[in-house]
Amino acid sequence: MKLLVTGGAGFIGSHFINYWIKNHPDDNIVNLDNLTYAGSLVNLQQVIDSPNYEFVKGDISDMPLVEKIMNGVGIVVHFAAETHVDRSIMDPWPFIQSNLVGTYTLLEVAKKHKIQRFHHISTDEVFGTLELDKDHKFNEETKYNPRSPYSATKAGSDHLVRAYFYTYNLPITISNCSNNFGPAMYPEKLIPLAITNALEDKKIPIHGDGKNERDWLFVEDHISAIELILEKGKIGETYLVGGLKSGMSNLDTVKKILSLMGKDEDLIQMVADRPGNDRRYDIDWSKIRKELGWEPKHNFEDGLKITIDWYRENEEWWRKIKSGEFKDYYAKQFGNDGL
Ligand code: NAD
Ligand code: DAU
Repeated sequence: MKLLVTGGAGFIGSHFINYWIKNHPDDNIVNLDNLTYAGSLVNLQQVIDSPNYEFVKGDISDMPLVEKIMNGVGIVVHFAAETHVDRSIMDPWPFIQSNLVGTYTLLEVAKKHKIQRFHHISTDEVFGTLELDKDHKFNEETKYNPRSPYSATKAGSDHLVRAYFYTYNLPITISNCSNNFGPAMYPEKLIPLAITNALEDKKIPIHGDGKNERDWLFVEDHISAIELILEKGKIGETYLVGGLKSGMSNLDTVKKILSLMGKDEDLIQMVADRPGNDRRYDIDWSKIRKELGWEPKHNFEDGLKITIDWYRENEEWWRKIKSGEFKDYYAKQFGNDGL
C-alpha cells in the first residue's frame, strides 16, 4: 500500500513515519511537507535512505503538485497544519491557508483519485473549553465550540472532511486527540519549552494563574491509536484519543518537570494570560477503547522521563532551533514579560 503522509517532518508526523516504515516494511510512504519553521528533516534521519520512503517538499494547497503525488496512493494520513495557538493569535492567516485551504485541496484531489482512506488528524481544541473542578469530559458527541484562530481552522477542516464523506462518499476517518508530548516537539509548546528553558537555566513562562489543565498524551500512544484506526476504524467515524494524565494544572506540570530534572521552582515566571486560554481539556476515550481495543501505554511520569532524556541527549537539535527564527517569536510573545 502507498501512503501519502502530510506534515511528516513535524513532531507527530515524523514519529508516525519512523514507526510505520519500521513496522510496515511492505508499505511505501510519500511525505509531503513544505518545511515551515516547525518541520525538520533531522526528525527523519532513520528513514531517509529507506527505499520505501520518499520526501516531497511542497505545500498541501498546491493543487497541481498534490494531483501529481496522489497518483497510486491508497491512504492519506493528514497531519500537516499550522499548530501553535499563540502564533494563531498573532497572525491567523497561515492557519487559514494551511488548515482550511490545504485540507480542501487534499480532499478535492483524494475524491478525484478515489483513494481508499483519508485519515484526518485533529484536535480536542475544536470542542472549546471545560470548566475546572467539574468532571465532565469531551466525547464524540460534544458540540464544536472552537475559541482560537487555530482551533477554528481545525474545526473548519474537520467539517470539510465530514462534508466530503456525506456529500461525495469519500472514505474518511477523523481522530481528535489531546495534547501530545514526547521527543522532537518544537520548543514553543509548554512541555518542550519548560524542559529546554530549564536545561538553559532560563525562566519558564506560565500563562495566567497556571491552573489551566491539559490531558497529556505521549506521542507513541497517539501513533498506536492512528495505526488501529487505519487498520480497524469504521469509515465515516470519529475517534477521540486522550492520555493517562488529566486533572493536572500547567503549574503542577512544570513543577513535576523541574523536580524530575533536579531544578529549582524559582525558574517559574508567571506571565500575562493567553487571550481566550481554554481552561481545561479532558477526553473520554472509551469509544476507541471499546471498539478498537486501544489504550495508552505510557503514564505521564514515564513519558516525561523519556522526553527529558531526549532533550538532554539532543541539545544540538533544540539549540539550533532556539537560536534561529524562534528567537524573534519568543521576543514577540514574551518580551513584555521581560523574558
Ligand atoms: P508541527 O507543528 O510539529 O508540524 C506540522 C508540520 O506540518 C510541519 O512539518 C510543517 O512543515 C508542516 N506543514 C504546515 N503547513 C503545511 C503546508 N501548508 N503544506 C505542507 N506542510 C505543511 O505539528 P504537530 O504537533 O506534529 O501536529 C500534527 C497534527 O496533529 C496537526 O494537524 C495538529 O493540529 C494535530 N494535533 C497536534 C497536537 C499536539 O499536541 N501537537 C494535538 C492534537 C492534534
Ligand atoms: O489539545 C491539543 C492541542 O495541544 C493541539 O491541537 C495544539 O496543536 C497544541 O499546540 C496544543 O495546544 P495548547 O495550546 O494546549 O498547547 P501549549 O503547549 O501551547 O499550551 C498548553 C497550556 O500551557 C496552555 O494552557 C497555555 C499554557 N502555556 C503555554 C506555553 C507555550 C504556558 O503557560 N506557558 C507557555 O509558555
